[in-house]
Amino acid sequence: MKIKTSRISPSTQLFRFGKPYKTEAVILNTNDLSFTETEKLPLFKCEKTAESCKLTYTMNKEQCIFGLGESVGGINKRSHIYRMWNSDDPCHTEEKASLYGSHPFFIISDENEKIGVFIDYPTDFQIDAGFTRYNVLSIEIPSENFDLYIFAAGNELQIIREYLKLTGTPYLPPKWAFGFQQSRWSYPDEKTVTQVADNMAAAGIPCDAIYIDIDYMDNYKVFTIDEKKFPDFKKFTAKMKERGIRLIPIIDPGVRIEKGYSVYEDGVKNNYFCKEADGKTDFTAAVWPGLVHFPDFLTDQVRSWWGKLYRLLWNNGIDGIWNDMNEPAIFYTPRKLDAAKKKITEQAINNSWDFFEIRDSLNSLANRRDDYSEMYHFAEDEKNGSINHKNLHNLYGFNMTRATVDEFKKDFPNKRIFLLTRSSYAGAHRMAAIWMGDNQSWWEHLLLHIQMLISLNICGFFYTGADVCGFSGNVSNELALRWMQFAVFSPLFRNHAALGTRNQEPYNFDDKTTNRMRHFIRTRYKLLPYMYTEFVHAVKNLAPLCTPTAFYDKSPQSLECQDEFYLGRSLLIAPVHQPNAQGRIVYLAENHPYLHVRLYNNELEDFAVIQPGNFYMKYSTDEVAFFIKENCGIPTGIIENDGKTFNTIEIIAFVSSIGTASYYEDDGETNDYMQGNFFQIDFTIKKDENNSFLIQADKHGNKLPDIKNFNFVIIDESGSIVRLAFAL
Ligand code: NOJ
Repeated sequence: MKIKTSRISPSTQLFRFGKPYKTEAVILNTNDLSFTETEKLPLFKCEKTAESCKLTYTMNKEQCIFGLGESVGGINKRSHIYRMWNSDDPCHTEEKASLYGSHPFFIISDENEKIGVFIDYPTDFQIDAGFTRYNVLSIEIPSENFDLYIFAAGNELQIIREYLKLTGTPYLPPKWAFGFQQSRWSYPDEKTVTQVADNMAAAGIPCDAIYIDIDYMDNYKVFTIDEKKFPDFKKFTAKMKERGIRLIPIIDPGVRIEKGYSVYEDGVKNNYFCKEADGKTDFTAAVWPGLVHFPDFLTDQVRSWWGKLYRLLWNNGIDGIWNDMNEPAIFYTPRKLDAAKKKITEQAINNSWDFFEIRDSLNSLANRRDDYSEMYHFAEDEKNGSINHKNLHNLYGFNMTRATVDEFKKDFPNKRIFLLTRSSYAGAHRMAAIWMGDNQSWWEHLLLHIQMLISLNICGFFYTGADVCGFSGNVSNELALRWMQFAVFSPLFRNHAALGTRNQEPYNFDDKTTNRMRHFIRTRYKLLPYMYTEFVHAVKNLAPLCTPTAFYDKSPQSLECQDEFYLGRSLLIAPVHQPNAQGRIVYLAENHPYLHVRLYNNELEDFAVIQPGNFYMKYSTDEVAFFIKENCGIPTGIIENDGKTFNTIEIIAFVSSIGTASYYEDDGETNDYMQGNFFQIDFTIKKDENNSFLIQADKHGNKLPDIKNFNFVIIDESGSIVRLAFAL
């Protein structure tokens, strides 16, 4: 067996099997590399046939697996099977192997060795991470054409950096995206959206964005706005923006088949839709609008056409887009529906009812693999000029993202896009954000939000989050509170719910619950300077915002910890994610003390120095708590009455010897920060022999700071508090 190989950097090596499809996951043109041949792979045993390849690796007991992006399983992904097949599956139960995105990058790690693995292959394959045999990691690829990258960079963070150098710098959204966002399927019209904004304002709850789901369109026709519901859309978006609220409309890929509808007509006329096997007939399936065709995003021409269609929304003052259903989800195809109908009719005629057969024939209509096999993309260099969708299924959403982003960049070269997309593939992290899809109002899914945040961060999706309070099902007050409390630390903080579920907007609960949610959301704004500073730092340094404590501390307890993480450089977050809990045990890693901070009513009222190890943390539903690492400080805003804005930064620092704290700002909207148009101040807080503190500041960037006043609240290892002021 001969495999082509090329060394990409001292720590990254590519092994090329056969002739892989160029997925665009990596930003390097790998075809320009020079390759040598090798007989043997490092680490993996390789069994190859003409159609498949099985890679196996023997794991020791201690090895953990981190990464794999959007998938169930814990922070340690071991003991589970993952299937790289983007799926519209709204039931994220434990045994599920696939969700909406495929991110086949992971790190195998123990104290002695850390190895990163990325398999760039755009369709169905399986990673058995010790499920069948606990000590065997096996990767089964039903093809001989794929790229395998192996990273041996030292520690986990260095491996991630190498992966991100290869696949691109993570996406930086506009700053407003770090505010609170409210969504529901559906706020169908101007009146309802206004009501949501009014209710938020009346409840004193700040909010930066409201989403409009499929009902804003005329008959679910993408790139239309129902004028009965939004008589003057442009005026309305402007009015909302004046109130500090951005509208974010949804776009699905399915184009309704309707004579006279321009998107449909253009698509048919120009051959922009995916075809059937004959290469002529447009592939048809049903989604929300009824029967639709799917744009063939794999071609430049279609992407460019599609990307320009968003101008309808940009020109109406829209600042953010929500691309949905782009696996693409299929409810049924007419052929399969007819077959099911036939079965039912036959049974009716024969008067012999087989309940299970009927139930299963209807239940199995959606998202069928054999339907995807009937869909074709144009591909000049392939045999017959086309390629079967099943051979690159995981790239569909990825290329819809490219379509949206690339044209936006042409129209607004310097503006940051806000794009939330459901389906994705490795590499999409450099273009847009993903959310975690249709979760449920279950405690398990609060935990999944925490865990997936980390797995996704490892794969470069730094800005992400789940539907807070859960999408399907009715949320209990207690779960809603715990979820909102945790989401203060989730980069994407969006409350979203499905049709027919309990109204879960923060003002739709009893007063006590609403008051607590107001406090959580306002605390989010208070912590926004820290969140934004750390986010930009993460992007610039290719280091995840959310990391497992196990990356820094290899004690067995850290390795086993599945529900805590570091947020940025200074905070440890340990949410309560179980019902009827008054608190939880937190493992304080890394053998140094922490400052336990509890915020009530936005004030620093309660704090304590806690020694490392196990700590039972009381955590009620009327506070927001976190732990500051030793010798670290975090910038927080002293929030004005609007709950959002601030003129002074308060740095809360826990310093026993020499501490550091940073604050960063830029215009929040453009890419000018890349040209040095930002302001960053790095503070050093030194404790001297007399236990007094000296503050030194290091300034960077060309921007004039908006904030000139910094108040310091410094707590030392004995818990004594010192307040200092610093002005620019
Ligand atoms: C599925 C999406 O995941 C969900 O968030 C959305 O509300 C529905 N589609 C309706 O558009």
